[in-house]
Amino acid sequence: MIISYEGHACFVLQGSKKIIIDPFLVSDIKAPQAYEDQDYDLILVTHGHRDHFGDAVRISKNSGAPIITVVELANILAAKGLNAVGFNIGGTYRSGEVRIKMTPALHSSSIRIDGQALYAGPPVGFIIRMDGLCIYYPGDTALFYDMATVIAREKIDRAFLPIGDYFTMGMRDAVTAADWLGAKKVIPMHYNTFPEITQNVNIFAQEIAEQTDSECIVMKPGEKINL
Ligand code: NI
Ligand code: MN
Repeated sequence: MIISYEGHACFVLQGSKKIIIDPFLVSDIKAPQAYEDQDYDLILVTHGHRDHFGDAVRISKNSGAPIITVVELANILAAKGLNAVGFNIGGTYRSGEVRIKMTPALHSSSIRIDGQALYAGPPVGFIIRMDGLCIYYPGDTALFYDMATVIAREKIDRAFLPIGDYFTMGMRDAVTAADWLGAKKVIPMHYNTFPEITQNVNIFAQEIAEQTDSECIVMKPGEKINL
């Protein structure tokens, strides 16, 4: 599977389906048009905060791909005439052979529409099964113990982990998350985008190597790798 890192917490998974997760295209990696011209099959959104949802509407309108998210947020978007599909925590959304299970996240969620912040349902994460790989995208979250039990039980191959602290868990908790999850490879995200979430990712990579059985893959914004 080809994974590309679009900066902050945005990744594109290219396998039998092309999936963009939490589109917020902060960087100058590509012109916005480069995203809109792509044929995404699915747009996954974990919650309504701008740094996860910011470019979802535009990409959905231009690519025709549905926004897959939690029921309350999907209802808000559908009422605006957007192509949105809502399901809920513990449930699985299927698209062909691809399975996407919704997980809880320990965070908050709201969405700004016409200048007002609306309740957007609970924040969530996703476990994505595609082409024989099981990928955990926890979204914005604090460390929570279900990662060691209910989520680890899914036999996670790849885990994206927020490490920025302040808005999500920081590096120390993310190392514990990696240990609990037992994923073969972990990819840090949600750091260095804003001053509050400045982190030295090399320390994280070193601690993952020393304290867990996982391999840390540090991706640069704009980088694309076969994982
Ligand atoms: Ni958030
Ligand atoms: Mn965030």
